[in-house]
Amino acid sequence: MTRTKVALGVSSSIGLYKACEIVRGFQKAGVEVQVVMTPNAARLISPLLFSSLAGTKTIVEMFEEPAGRSIRHVALAREIALLCVAPATANVIGKFAGGVADDFLSTLFLATTAPVLIAPAMNEAMYLDRTTQANMDRLKALGAEFVEAEKGYLACGDAGWGRLAEPEAIVREGLRILARTSSLAGRTVLVTAGPTREHLDPVRFLSNPSSGKMGYELAREAVARGARTILVSGPTGLVPPAGAMTESVVSAAEMEKACLKAFPKAGIVVMAAAVSDFRFKEPRGRKSAKEEIGLSLAVERTPDILARLGRAKKPGQVLVGFAAETHDVAAHARRKMAAKKADLMVANAVGAGRGFGTETNEVLIIAPSGPVQAAGPLSKREIARLIFDRIEALLEKKRR
Ligand code: C5P
Repeated sequence: MTRTKVALGVSSSIGLYKACEIVRGFQKAGVEVQVVMTPNAARLISPLLFSSLAGTKTIVEMFEEPAGRSIRHVALAREIALLCVAPATANVIGKFAGGVADDFLSTLFLATTAPVLIAPAMNEAMYLDRTTQANMDRLKALGAEFVEAEKGYLACGDAGWGRLAEPEAIVREGLRILARTSSLAGRTVLVTAGPTREHLDPVRFLSNPSSGKMGYELAREAVARGARTILVSGPTGLVPPAGAMTESVVSAAEMEKACLKAFPKAGIVVMAAAVSDFRFKEPRGRKSAKEEIGLSLAVERTPDILARLGRAKKPGQVLVGFAAETHDVAAHARRKMAAKKADLMVANAVGAGRGFGTETNEVLIIAPSGPVQAAGPLSKREIARLIFDRIEALLEKKRR
């Protein structure tokens, strides 16, 4: 069996001497380490030190004669199970956030689909600077995880925020992420996302402002945990998540059909779609002039997919519902959880710039018993991670 490989990115913060301990920490856990230094870091400390520790030649330069036909950053991007960058300077974080790829490390970041862990280290003013903070928020929204810098003695002689976290904490977090990359291996996850459209005719429909972003991030998270992932998506303008099988649907009836097909194989079902509650009783195949349509149109209820799956649920299956509410959020979510037989309910307040279409989310995660977990505001990716942590805890409980 090939050993798990981690790329350790080392950039030019004085804290880079601690990276030696990080190499050792991963090695002790049986993980192979390939160190990648930025050219500036290689001016502070010899790459040879890391080559000797890691047992592989440290990569610094982007343009070296390739050993074979393979392009090194692409080959390494595929081999690694984690990219850990420690210490990460404001410069490296800014490059990652902006998509700049002008050296080996920043190119590797763009080329890899492995999870990314970043441990920043820099002077306090740079760390607290709004640009750096915004860059870190952007990377979090894109799925990167951070071991936050600490407050303490800094190389510039000041004491303040910006000191690299302790190597043990970075290694611990890295190992936790590595374990998570296969925590749902062998399982099938079904996620619904986006709105549905209930057409009156080819050009008019009933719908809602759901962007689908929360559901897409949930599907990304399921893929990242090794699950076979089926995403049933209503109309959105989003790029389908890599690694998920995405089925596009338009109406609630189509969504129901796709869900019923996937449901028997799915151990985990997360219904993040904002299914339209009503549809026209008499849809038309052709557009009629507005004068021909009366001022009241008969509507009927769409099928409640979650409730139907709740009735069909087998003991081992985990069913998660969403509730978007304008008021009495927790109470409404609890009532729906009971009515639809969901195992977890994720509730959020919507209206006036909240919930629908936004980049962040603030939710309550509610189970039939136990305390309500409040989370956010966080990026939708971070919320997705918390939801899957809860789902995994539930699976563990069901197993016992
Ligand atoms: O009843 P309400 O629409 O607020 O319930 C929300 C939850 O039920 C969501 O998880 C949504 O995906 C699901 N739902 C459904 N089919 C419907 C309406 C909602 O599956 N027709």
